[in-house]
Amino acid sequence: MRGTWTGIAAVAAALMGRAGAASYDDIPDIEVYGQHFFYTNNGSQFLLRGVAYQQNYEPNGTADSNASYTDPLADSAGCKRDLPYLQQIFTNVLRVYAIDPSQNHDECMELFASAGIYVVADLGEPKTSIEADAPEWNVELYRRYTSVVDSLSKYKNVIGFFAGNENVSAGNQTAAAAFVKAAVRDIKGYISSQNYRSTMGVGYATADVPVRDELAAYFACEPGNSGNSTQIDFWGYNVYSWCGESNYASSQYGERYDFFSDYPVPVFFAEYGCIVGVEGGPEHRPFTEVEVLYGNMTNVFSGGIVYQWFQSENDYGLVQLEDNDASVSPYPDFTSLRSQLASVSPTTTQRSRYTPSNSAPACPTTGSSWLPVASPLPPAVNPQLCACMAASLQCNIKSTDETKYEDVFNYLCEQHDGKYCAGIQHNATTGDFGALGGCSPKDKLAWVANEYFMDNGRSASACDFSGLATTQAPATSSGCGTLLNAVSGGTGDVPSPTGKGTAAVGTGVAQSSSKTGVAASVNPGGFVSYGGVLGVVYAVLAAVSMAGMLVL
Ligand SMILES: *[C@@H]1O[C@H](CO)[C@@H](O)[C@H](O)[C@H]1NC(C)=O
Ligand SMILES: *[C@@H]1O[C@H](CO)[C@@H](O)[C@H](O)[C@H]1NC(C)=O
Ligand SMILES: *[C@@H]1O[C@H](CO)[C@@H](O)[C@H](O)[C@H]1NC(C)=O
Ligand SMILES: *[C@@H]1O[C@H](CO)[C@@H](O)[C@H](O)[C@H]1NC(C)=O
Ligand SMILES: *[C@@H]1O[C@H](CO)[C@@H](O)[C@H](O)[C@H]1NC(C)=O
Ligand SMILES: *[C@@H]1O[C@H](CO)[C@@H](O)[C@H](O)[C@H]1NC(C)=O
Ligand SMILES: *[C@@H]1O[C@H](CO)[C@@H](O)[C@H](O)[C@H]1NC(C)=O
Ligand SMILES: *[C@@H]1O[C@H](CO)[C@@H](O)[C@H](O)[C@H]1NC(C)=O
Repeated sequence: MRGTWTGIAAVAAALMGRAGAASYDDIPDIEVYGQHFFYTNNGSQFLLRGVAYQQNYEPNGTADSNASYTDPLADSAGCKRDLPYLQQIFTNVLRVYAIDPSQNHDECMELFASAGIYVVADLGEPKTSIEADAPEWNVELYRRYTSVVDSLSKYKNVIGFFAGNENVSAGNQTAAAAFVKAAVRDIKGYISSQNYRSTMGVGYATADVPVRDELAAYFACEPGNSGNSTQIDFWGYNVYSWCGESNYASSQYGERYDFFSDYPVPVFFAEYGCIVGVEGGPEHRPFTEVEVLYGNMTNVFSGGIVYQWFQSENDYGLVQLEDNDASVSPYPDFTSLRSQLASVSPTTTQRSRYTPSNSAPACPTTGSSWLPVASPLPPAVNPQLCACMAASLQCNIKSTDETKYEDVFNYLCEQHDGKYCAGIQHNATTGDFGALGGCSPKDKLAWVANEYFMDNGRSASACDFSGLATTQAPATSSGCGTLLNAVSGGTGDVPSPTGKGTAAVGTGVAQSSSKTGVAASVNPGGFVSYGGVLGVVYAVLAAVSMAGMLVL
């Protein structure tokens, strides 16, 4: 096994560039099959020997508006500098926490592919990710996540993506899991709708938190929604429980092995490498866990990703950059990791001799330590739906000054038990989701303002809100009718004040089937549709409240 791990020929080829023997395009896809990863060329099981590869970024998440990052795959000089050292520790996977989709990644990705190195990429970046304490799954995040997928999907050495990293890190943050699961579903759906390589998966990387068992079950369960699968393709586990000279039992690796032996998808350590603090600085890491992780755990765990390549304030670096970042100087941790990895020879499974037998676990039940309901999940985020909706309103928001929105939201959402805000609800604890909850603040406020306007005699004074809003001629472009229809009555997905997917009287989005003239009809969901010239308007049922106009 050791011979194949060193990959000397591959290094040489990579350093020689494309003229070398191994072309970057020869790298086989890695596929998920049951609980394992396999090479698609020969059916050998694939174990990750990964390194977290990101400079100037704290992966544990921050809402700091000043946070920034350096794209490690856009720095071709850095990739060339690091490759020979990455090869010395048998690296076959790099985990990157944030890339910039607008940059070019060809050189690094081709260099790594030529050396048999794959990439798993987180989809967020410090300023644009699902926040643990204020979780959302919305168009801004959707655009960021899909743009990362767009920019990396063309490289065959991309195994997949993390839709979140440690976004549930405390007992009171479990509701965030619902939004991450919705992101998993929508990004899996996006990869499939774009006809990108179907071997690319979407997973989640969890912190080792008290609710770890519920989290693992929640992300692997299929709550019975129709449509795109909501199950993660792989489970990343950030584990710092083996510290120094630990062992199988006290590190809880054994207990984790037992827990995940029934898991339906691959599990791997998405970060590992505990540091024990000692007087005078952190202790040198012996990496004795490597022998066990690549020893008798490979039936259940697909290897792991060491945290981390670059030295930073947290002292986890394997190497130090020197000479103005021109050269690499390994730390003793690098050397011990290298010798540990050099001495393992894992037993692997051949795809042809493996039949997946684990099925999806039951979703955890909502209780004191677990908040989000498993069904329904937050609705699919669809930027086009939001744009269609906003264009087809009669009262729209014109100001982009979001600091002025909150007062209007607060006022309108307090009216009539929140009926104007039903369509934008986004509450994972109760499962109350409006179909428009993932739209931008501006579009959501427009929807709410329009609901109020329709309910208050449609006079211009009911569409002002201190000058934020103005009336407009509703418009619809091709494709909008179908989208808007899909969120109206009959699908169970309609904005609803009572939630749980029931249709709400008076808040439906409906389209007339009449293409000419003005027609009124009642659709099966009970919504009156006024087919205007443009075909789509918002209808309000009989119980029109003539409550006082809003004066702010
Ligand atoms: C299968 O292919 C991979 C990638 O080329 C290679 O690393 C591995 O050694 C192969 N397995 C066998 C059993 O030859
Ligand atoms: C990230 O956070 C987790 C959980 O809070 C912690 O166990 C881990 O040590 C942190 N990692 C680093 C590198 O700070
Ligand atoms: C959430 O996950 C993303 C990775 O997709 C990460 O960039 C971000 O820092 C995480 N945020 C929090 C608050 O944990
Ligand atoms: C962000 O940067 C600005 C300008 O440098 C500074 O005033 C502000 O305090 C910083 N915010 C945080 C949270 O560090
Ligand atoms: C969880 O608790 C912390 C500390 O009390 C608090 O800052 C945070 O906002 C809470 N998060 C949620 C989602 O309630
Ligand atoms: C699956 O997701 C894609 C992308 O979000 C979407 O276009 C498609 O309609 C979804 N399919 C179903 C059946 O929900
Ligand atoms: C795996 O190996 C460790 C010692 O390295 C041992 O304690 C443990 O019982 C073994 N587990 C299994 C499932 O064989
Ligand atoms: C969700 O609804 C519950 C029950 O009404 C409420 O206690 C909670 O604050 C809501 N959560 C959010 C994020 O609004």
